[in-house]
Amino acid sequence: MKEVLIAENAGFCFGVKRAMNMAQKELEEKKDISVYALGPLIHNKQAVEKYENMGLITIDKIDDVNQNLESEMIIRSHGVPKITYDEAESKSIDIVDTTCPFVKKIHYIVSKGEEENKSIILLGDSNHPEVIGINGWCKDKAIIFKELEEVKDYDFDKTKEYLVVSQTTMNEKNFDNIIEYLETLGLKLSVKNTICSATRVRQQAARELSQKVDVMVVIGGKHSSNTQKLVKICSEIVDTISIETKEDMKDVDFSGYNKIGVTAGASTPDWIIEEAIEFLKTC
Ligand code: F3S
Repeated sequence: MKEVLIAENAGFCFGVKRAMNMAQKELEEKKDISVYALGPLIHNKQAVEKYENMGLITIDKIDDVNQNLESEMIIRSHGVPKITYDEAESKSIDIVDTTCPFVKKIHYIVSKGEEENKSIILLGDSNHPEVIGINGWCKDKAIIFKELEEVKDYDFDKTKEYLVVSQTTMNEKNFDNIIEYLETLGLKLSVKNTICSATRVRQQAARELSQKVDVMVVIGGKHSSNTQKLVKICSEIVDTISIETKEDMKDVDFSGYNKIGVTAGASTPDWIIEEAIEFLKTC
């Protein structure tokens, strides 16, 4: 039998667990009203399907809420721009806000920074819903960078005051490199490291385990940014296989590996991790 080692802090983080529990409570207690989720509840297809089977209706935009029926709309843990709250209020749509408190804190920081006339630098992926949400709290004025190269190409204005925040799931090393560079430019700069500790601890545990095993299996959604970051971190150290569920491992040849490490992204439910571990033990 293979030796399977599980990284500490694999799977649901505090914010996702909280959001999923809140959504479950709504679905269980409000059976006679329509419960919508604005965007997939988490970046995990299997978990979203499970909740949809309980009655959750996933929508892309507020206009998809059927206002003729009694309903409420869940805002997911990634958070949304301020305009979404305003729109819901103007349409009298009740909101169940599962935005992670750590993301809420960034909304507050950038909104205050913008009020104080600071230019907001937001480090992260401009297409990620969390980043889109944060940007919406500083009137969509944030300067968004993902990589150091983009920062190097940007023409900064030394008369301005800059406030830097980051997406909660940003790679710490990338963040440090960018800050180090920005600090050489002689700008008026204040920096808030808003990387979530859950991400930091999970990434560190994955890094450490990668050094002790023959192969790493990273479980999580293909669209989950924090999962894909774990894949990158592990693959820099050891052979790494990225899967969504145990089904994805059916054609993988594990014969050359004795010690298998497992980690999982913040939106991977426990039951999917357990199924994968059981499969790995017998492969
Ligand atoms: Fe929140 Fe951190 Fe998770 S920001 S959603 S606890 S990764």
